[in-house]
Amino acid sequence: MRSSGDKKMISLWFIPFLLLSLFDQAIGRPFYELPSKLQNKHKEPLQSFRPYNIAHRGSNGEIPEETVDAYMRAIEEGADFIETDILATKDGALICFHDVNLDDITDIADHKEFASRKTTYEVQGENMTGWFVVDFILDELKSLRLKQRFPFRDQQYNGKFSIITFEEFIAIALDANRIVGIYPEIKNPVLINQHVKWADGKRFEDKFVETLLKYGYKGSYKSKEWQEQPVFIQSFAPASLIYISNMTDSPKILLIDDVNIPTQDTNQTYAQITSDSYFAYIKDYVVGIGPWKDTIVPPKDNHLSTATDLVARAHAHNIQVHPYTFRNENQYLHFNFHQDPYDEYDYWINVIGVDGLFTDFTGSLHHYQEWTAISKPKETESDILKRVASIISSYRHD
Ligand SMILES: *[C@@H]1O[C@H](CO)[C@@H](O)[C@H](O)[C@H]1NC(C)=O
Ligand SMILES: *[C@@H]1O[C@H](CO)[C@@H](O)[C@H](O)[C@H]1NC(C)=O
Ligand SMILES: *[C@@H]1O[C@H](CO)[C@@H](O)[C@H](O)[C@H]1NC(C)=O
Repeated sequence: MRSSGDKKMISLWFIPFLLLSLFDQAIGRPFYELPSKLQNKHKEPLQSFRPYNIAHRGSNGEIPEETVDAYMRAIEEGADFIETDILATKDGALICFHDVNLDDITDIADHKEFASRKTTYEVQGENMTGWFVVDFILDELKSLRLKQRFPFRDQQYNGKFSIITFEEFIAIALDANRIVGIYPEIKNPVLINQHVKWADGKRFEDKFVETLLKYGYKGSYKSKEWQEQPVFIQSFAPASLIYISNMTDSPKILLIDDVNIPTQDTNQTYAQITSDSYFAYIKDYVVGIGPWKDTIVPPKDNHLSTATDLVARAHAHNIQVHPYTFRNENQYLHFNFHQDPYDEYDYWINVIGVDGLFTDFTGSLHHYQEWTAISKPKETESDILKRVASIISSYRHD
């Protein structure tokens, strides 16, 4: 049942729409700019007043790693950067995938047509057996389905997603409704360059940089171009970062493995690549390092022991520190943190003073930072007057 008053309201309510549609026709284009056509300059900029929230393989604490949905979730949850590992396929395509073999997080074992491709390769000085990414073309890899790496994480998405390419990953970042940076790794370059050959004689690193340049990723750290499309290029291989330094001035991060693992390309020890003299040399090529957090503050019986001076020495060379990997689950939290990931973030941000954090749980880090490091509200004119008044009144002692 409707009263006549309702009817009148309905007809009045219709008028603005009528006018709008006439106006729309008159100017011959949609009245509002389509979201997909928004230019970067209209987007919320990257924050830089607090350490970077780096979504390690997307929000992989929740959704299988390096999938479209893991990256979309990370962006929703507040990531500053989405992180990925780049490998190359047999036919030279660059894909987002962490392991050199497909065994742990895909359904390759169920694909009888690929059974004969199981093989053994030497990877970083050790023989490894499995189905290797470098033995499959992109179309074959796209037929596989991904699953969650850890049994204690949500298994409901297993079998739903496929491997994505570097270009698909870039599209996710560029389509975000605010500026979201990318943080791709040149993964296992020694192995990739041994097994994958490009027709034009180029190397894995060349293809990696060409892809970034094709999509407009360029400019030094904090330059105008960088602010519009932020990127950090990361690698455990110092020779790869130095090799690409002539091809791009995008900021680079040298990843640092455990204390007993030599670099895969230059065979240097942990002590060598974390020495003051090495920092003085490498700072011409990188803006930061990405060490494993347990090498900065080594644990003993799952309690933290004394922090090393690594962060202080890196900062003394103006080198940022982005440690990995922060995870919410009990088995990854040292007892000092009372099984509370916020306590862990508090320690690393406020006691150790890192510049960025690789986390499996983007949302937790973002919530922690929103509670503790929200941006300072701008001072209004009345705030300034109040502040001046309080300064003056402090001198009025009778
Ligand atoms: C890997 O296996 C091959 C063939 O059995 C062998 O010759 C080689 O020494 C092994 N490499 C390592 C690092 O164990
Ligand atoms: C970069 O280019 C310069 C000039 O072409 C060359 O001398 C230098 O060796 C190159 N550096 C690297 C790391 O390739
Ligand atoms: C790497 O360096 C160590 C010494 O630090 C040496 O024993 C080893 O043979 C080297 N490996 C290669 C592959 O050069």
